[in-house]
Amino acid sequence: MSLFRTKDLNRTVALSRGPGGLKKVLGPMDLILLGIGAVIGTGIFVLTGQGAVTAGPALTLSFVLAGICCGFAALCYAEFSSTVPVAGSIYTYSYVTMGELVAWIIGWDLMLEYGLATSAVSAGWSGYFQSLIGSFGLHLPRELTAAPGAVPGVTTWINLPALCIVLVLTFMLSLGVRESARVNNIMVAIKVGVVLLFILVGARHVQPHNWQPFMPHGMGATVSAAALMFFAFIGFDSITSASEEVRNPERNLPIGLIGALGICTVLYILVTAIMTGIVPFDKFKGIDHPVSLALQYANENWFASFVDLGAILGMTTVMLVMTYGQTRIIFAMSRDGLLPKRLSKVHPRFGTPFLATWVVGIVFALLGALVPLEVLGELVNIGTLAAFCLVSVAVIVLRKKRPDLPRAFRCPGVPVVPVLAVAFCLTLMAFLKAITWIAFGIWLALGLVVYFAYARHHSLLNQPASAREEVAT
Ligand code: ALA
Repeated sequence: MSLFRTKDLNRTVALSRGPGGLKKVLGPMDLILLGIGAVIGTGIFVLTGQGAVTAGPALTLSFVLAGICCGFAALCYAEFSSTVPVAGSIYTYSYVTMGELVAWIIGWDLMLEYGLATSAVSAGWSGYFQSLIGSFGLHLPRELTAAPGAVPGVTTWINLPALCIVLVLTFMLSLGVRESARVNNIMVAIKVGVVLLFILVGARHVQPHNWQPFMPHGMGATVSAAALMFFAFIGFDSITSASEEVRNPERNLPIGLIGALGICTVLYILVTAIMTGIVPFDKFKGIDHPVSLALQYANENWFASFVDLGAILGMTTVMLVMTYGQTRIIFAMSRDGLLPKRLSKVHPRFGTPFLATWVVGIVFALLGALVPLEVLGELVNIGTLAAFCLVSVAVIVLRKKRPDLPRAFRCPGVPVVPVLAVAFCLTLMAFLKAITWIAFGIWLALGLVVYFAYARHHSLLNQPASAREEVAT
């Protein structure tokens, strides 16, 4: 039974509010911006090219499907995050509801989501960055521009810009969330501004006949594109990993989640409708800057450069929030004894988990610099979809186990909404490649080995109550 031992909910919340906890500095607007910061990035600026080729103009429908899936999951997230407002996102929520083993699997799974997403985005960022400096006539030596094996037939050693950007962001995060949130807010404002600019300028060039045929490759291709475009929504859940640093979390977390997701969905639908309205969808084949291509196609080159700059900023904020979320999950797992204790030490001056931040930053930076990320892209999606399934199930479990808990936000229509969330997630997962499923299985198996070899024995729940008191105070 000890595999399913749970943390005490009241103690968990009390601990996060005690003197050893993180500083509470984030308000609702910070959260919405943090969410948008994590969400709008590589998905819309890079992957929509491939999405358009797969689904045609029905890519807008793919976004609707992926958005509905995330919407159901967000309602479940919102209930949890307003009930258990502590660091660690669904890892912590599942620890108090479904037990240690499930929590460990989720935490392990989230490393895949946040970790690989940061690395993947750093590679996309590097491409845009190189194109930007290229327009000023600056070029890096070829060997330093991509991961080994990333470009067939070309010798490359390391993706240096990807490495550098993640390390710079790690440095910022290690100095304190308040400063990082401020920088994040400015960059998000610019990013959203650029997306709005695209919508305003692009709308004038739409040729409605490009939307015909709407679904050239059928419904299957549309769902397939939804499974890919799901990547564009990843990140809104990272708001919940900041729970412990939020003022009045019971109210502000649901506002942040639903607000960020709603705004992004509307923007995505408008952007893809305009993109596919300007450019015939098959012309996006092999294009990694589809949004600015649409403006170039419409002879709006000047605005297209703005979009490129916005994409660079957009991806920067995605990495910032993802890395931030990952450090808080590691922090929470370490505080519970499942990972080495040093990782949850809060820096006396900066009030951040300093060591955890640097460990996470260096690992992701190296992955982004050394691994060709097309290989890993779908893994991010499968890891996240699996986590969404678990959180949806957990909502139902918590309602049954602890009906007494005060919930500032209640997910409407339980159990129908959580069941729909699971159904949507499983459908999208079914459209991912077999190799992705195999890699995901291997990652989970590795996680179980670490759990049984280390985490299970070091867990605080394995210590006598007196030792737990000492850690808590
Ligand atoms: N949703 C994030 C992006 O599209 C991960 O870059």
